[in-house]
Amino acid sequence: MTESPHRPIRSFVLRKGRLTSAQSRALDELWPHFGIEPSETVIDFDRLFSRKSDVIVEIGFGNGESTWQMARQEAHKNFIGIEVHKPGVGQLLMALENHDIGNVRIVREDAVSFLQHRVAKSSLQGVRIYFPDPWPKKRHHKRRIVQKDFVRLLAELIAPGGILHLATDWQPYADHMLEVLGQCTNFNNLSVTGDYCERPPWRVHTKYEHRGTRLGHKVRDLQFQRVDGDSDKSTV
Ligand SMILES: C[S@@+](CC[C@H](N)C(=O)[O-])C[C@H]1O[C@@H](n2cnc3c(N)ncnc32)[C@H](O)[C@@H]1O
Repeated sequence: MTESPHRPIRSFVLRKGRLTSAQSRALDELWPHFGIEPSETVIDFDRLFSRKSDVIVEIGFGNGESTWQMARQEAHKNFIGIEVHKPGVGQLLMALENHDIGNVRIVREDAVSFLQHRVAKSSLQGVRIYFPDPWPKKRHHKRRIVQKDFVRLLAELIAPGGILHLATDWQPYADHMLEVLGQCTNFNNLSVTGDYCERPPWRVHTKYEHRGTRLGHKVRDLQFQRVDGDSDKSTV
């Protein structure tokens, strides 16, 4: 994912965005309970959640509407939500408190470096990325989070049988996702038509999905299952 060791190519631009007083309070009071502080050590998820259960990671949760609703729907699973936008983190913290949800922990740093350094191999049962920034200009395509190296990293972290679920309203990005994932023999496309999947009924409508739909964009879901066997670095 890096152009040079000194200048990482990031999939996000930190937007300024003012914090509301409610978000600010949530960050002060609730972050110590729900937040995962930056560190170099690999996380023991059983210890973090005080229970042994499947771990699902959502990358780029925005305002977190999908995160808290999935956590409520799938209360037996543990969720890690990752987002760099501070007001969005504050918003999710408020929702976790309002809906009394305990099976979510939040990371506020670059998902790529978090996954590289803090997550053990084959420790995830799912990764969900909904409406990632499409970076439509050709010169920005390298900023898209779904890239060969990133998919290779996910293949190492997702346990056999686990699912990578992506959704986007930007057709050229959907094509790109299909191409990159299609080249990775560690993942099997769950689409019966060999390309896109039906939207699962449980997938929550997000802010960016609503925006895409308003603009008349078609929404694409992709679901790939991690196949058995070691991740093969030579396949992507
Ligand atoms: C287009 S928004 C979509 C938000 C939400 N999933 C939705 O559907 O409404 C993409 C989000 O991903 C976040 N993001 C992008 N790259 C990220 C990264 N590497 N680590 C953490 N968050 C990232 C951005 O800050 C942004 O909020």
